[in-house]
Amino acid sequence: MHPLLNIAISAARRAGLVIVRHYDEGARLKISTKGPNDFVTNVDQAVEQEIIEVIHKSYPHHGIMAEESAFLAPEREDIIWIIDPIDGTHNFIKSIPHFAVSIAVQIKGIIEFGVVFDPIKQELFSASKGGGAQLNGHRIRCSPCEKLEGAVIGLGFPVCERQKLAQFSAPYNKIFESCSDFRRSGSAALDLAYVAAGRFDAYWDCGLKPWDSAAGALMVREAGGYVSDFQGNSSYFETGEIIAGARKVYPELLHLIQATL
Ligand code: IPD
Ligand code: CA
Ligand code: CA
Repeated sequence: MHPLLNIAISAARRAGLVIVRHYDEGARLKISTKGPNDFVTNVDQAVEQEIIEVIHKSYPHHGIMAEESAFLAPEREDIIWIIDPIDGTHNFIKSIPHFAVSIAVQIKGIIEFGVVFDPIKQELFSASKGGGAQLNGHRIRCSPCEKLEGAVIGLGFPVCERQKLAQFSAPYNKIFESCSDFRRSGSAALDLAYVAAGRFDAYWDCGLKPWDSAAGALMVREAGGYVSDFQGNSSYFETGEIIAGARKVYPELLHLIQATL
C-alpha cells in the first residue's frame, strides 16, 4: 500500500476511536454554531487535531485543508490533506449512527488518495487514483443500474444556504418523478462512498465544500462511475454542486438537472 494511503487510513481509524468514545453523549457535547444550521462540536475539533497530529508526525511539511482549522499551505512538496473530521455532524449530535471521517490527499492539484471511514459500522472505504476503490479491502464497483427509472438517488439539501432551495425545487421534482426513491442521509462523504459501493445508483447535492466530496468523488470514479458539477465539468470544489453516479444513470441525471435549472 502507498505510504500516504497508509497514513490516511491510520489517521481515520484513530479519529474513529475518538468519535466512538464520544458517541451518544447528548447534552454533554459542547455545540457551537458556525452559521445558520451549521454546527460544530468539541468532538469535531478534537478529532480534527488528532488527524492532523497523525499526518504531521509523518509529513510535517504537508499542507492541511481541514473543515475546522485555518488553511495550512504546504512548506515544500505540493501535497495537501483535505479533511472532514466528522461528515454528518448533525447526525452525530442527534445520535443518529451515520457519519464518517473523510480524508483525501491532493498532490499537485490532483486527488490521488481518499479514505471515508464509518466508525460505527466499521466500514472503511478507500481509493487510490488508478488503483480502484475498496470497502474493507474488497474491491467495490458502482451499480449496474441501467436507467434513472428504478434508481435510488442520494441527495443533499442546501441546509446552510436556504435561498438556494427555490432554485432547486424544479430538479428535485423532476428527478423524483423519474427515479425510484430518494435517500437523504446527512453525510455527503458516505453518500459518495455508497455510490462507489453500488448501494446508491447516483447522488447529487448543491451545497458542498471540498472536504465533503474530495475523498468520495475519487472513490466513485475509481469504482467506474462519473462525477461532475451541474455543467458536466469538474469544478464541483468551486461551485459545491455535484452529480455522481453509475455509468448509465449519471448521464440521465445530468441531463434532467441541466434541463430544469
Ligand atoms: C454536511 C453533510 C451533509 C451535506 C452538507 C454538509 P457536515 O457536512 O455532508 O450531507 O448535505 O452540505 O455540510 O457539516 O456534517 O460536515
Ligand atoms: Ca462535511
Ligand atoms: Ca464536518
